[in-house]
Amino acid sequence: MTTSSLATRSLAAVWHPCTPMKRHETEPLLAIAHARGPWLVDTEGRRYLDAISSWWVNLFGHGHPHIRAALVEQLQQLDHVMLAGCTHAPVVELSEKLAALTGLGHASYGSDGASATEMALKMSAHYWRNMGRPEKNGFVGLAGGYHGETVGALSVTDVPVFRNAYAPLLRISDTVPSPDARAAQPGETPADAARRAAAALEAWLARHHSRTAALIVEPLIQCAAGMVMYDPDYLRLARSLCDHYQVHLVVDEIATGFGRTGSLFAHQQAGIRPDFICLSKGLTGGTLPLSAVLTTDAIYQAFYGTDAARAFLHSHSYTGNPLACRAALATLELFEQLDTVQANQALAAQLTAAFAPLSAHPRVRHARHLGMVWAWDIATTLPDFAQRYHAAARARGLLLRPIGNTLYCMPPYVLTADDVRHLATGALAALDDCLHQEAEQAAQARQAPEGENP
Ligand SMILES: Cc1ncc(COP(=O)(O)O)c(C=O)c1O
Repeated sequence: MTTSSLATRSLAAVWHPCTPMKRHETEPLLAIAHARGPWLVDTEGRRYLDAISSWWVNLFGHGHPHIRAALVEQLQQLDHVMLAGCTHAPVVELSEKLAALTGLGHASYGSDGASATEMALKMSAHYWRNMGRPEKNGFVGLAGGYHGETVGALSVTDVPVFRNAYAPLLRISDTVPSPDARAAQPGETPADAARRAAAALEAWLARHHSRTAALIVEPLIQCAAGMVMYDPDYLRLARSLCDHYQVHLVVDEIATGFGRTGSLFAHQQAGIRPDFICLSKGLTGGTLPLSAVLTTDAIYQAFYGTDAARAFLHSHSYTGNPLACRAALATLELFEQLDTVQANQALAAQLTAAFAPLSAHPRVRHARHLGMVWAWDIATTLPDFAQRYHAAARARGLLLRPIGNTLYCMPPYVLTADDVRHLATGALAALDDCLHQEAEQAAQARQAPEGENP
């Protein structure tokens, strides 16, 4: 089937996410036929380097033989069984493994990141209720924070374009200033910006802690806000403020977990222990939907008993699906076998060197990098820069989707030297393609007869 016929049928039959559908009249869908490693291949045989890991989920490339073999083996043993009243080896082994890696346990499972957010929020508020403090049921997040788009998760997501239409359905949470390192004034360090934001958090908590269950944060990088990076000091200060004011700290590692920021989990760079960790995306290496929430023994104990009203009642049909758990175990085995966190340091150094001309580009502001994430704010007058850049990158064999005027790259961890070159040269060339279009637009505007284009 050709790209165009599949794309046409898709537009008639599928409601695609995150896009006003009419846009696809001018922005054709990419119809993918198969994929291997970091490469996607469309139905006409054109190749695209998946430089954003298919929405930040794919860690070891597509179709990794180790994960595939584990899934085939699991499929021969057990496809699925409900987790209420039943258990199975993959869910037990994965829960033990995640506990060993994080120091938190009692894993509960969902199928997507937003569900993990929902579970963490519900557990936190329910904990306080079980402790005789039902009034502690509010939440606070960081300005620009993103934690998913179901109704509960959206109420702690501070991205107006996703939230505004649904505002009447939500109990929108307060936000405190982001510790965004770009807010550092001349002569200040990112840690200074983090301390200023922590002071604002303290002022907020001092006023509202008695009604607040939890602070929820994306540790070190607020990804959906445009790869907003911040100093680990903020997490240390937030941890001690949450302790002081008896407010839970939820770290949403859905995007930052599994090596993305240079450590297995981002919060580990601050040396803190959160009360809840939310995981998803890379958990299965980008093969199957799965999310998990981990918490402390103390929180678990507050639910422990025979009374249903005190128990954590949150059910999904596919909770702890054996195939997804097996894929997660195989992914974690790859981290060990390949010493991925260490190996990524060398790959990141190669990428940073290859990106040097892009980082030094005169239109780039705030070139930044952490672990396996790179971002550049682009000074452009193009109002539709993100769409134009996406199209230009596609024409150069790259899948990249800027967030507003922020271009970013979050590739799988399996790039060859040729892939690195293709990515860095293509990303720079696509920027120049867009700036060329910008110059053409400006020239046309200058030529337009006066008064015609107010
Ligand atoms: C930090 C964070 N939390 C939650 C989510 C929601 O995950 P999902 O899209 O799987 O619901 C995302 C998705 O991008 C995310 O980046």
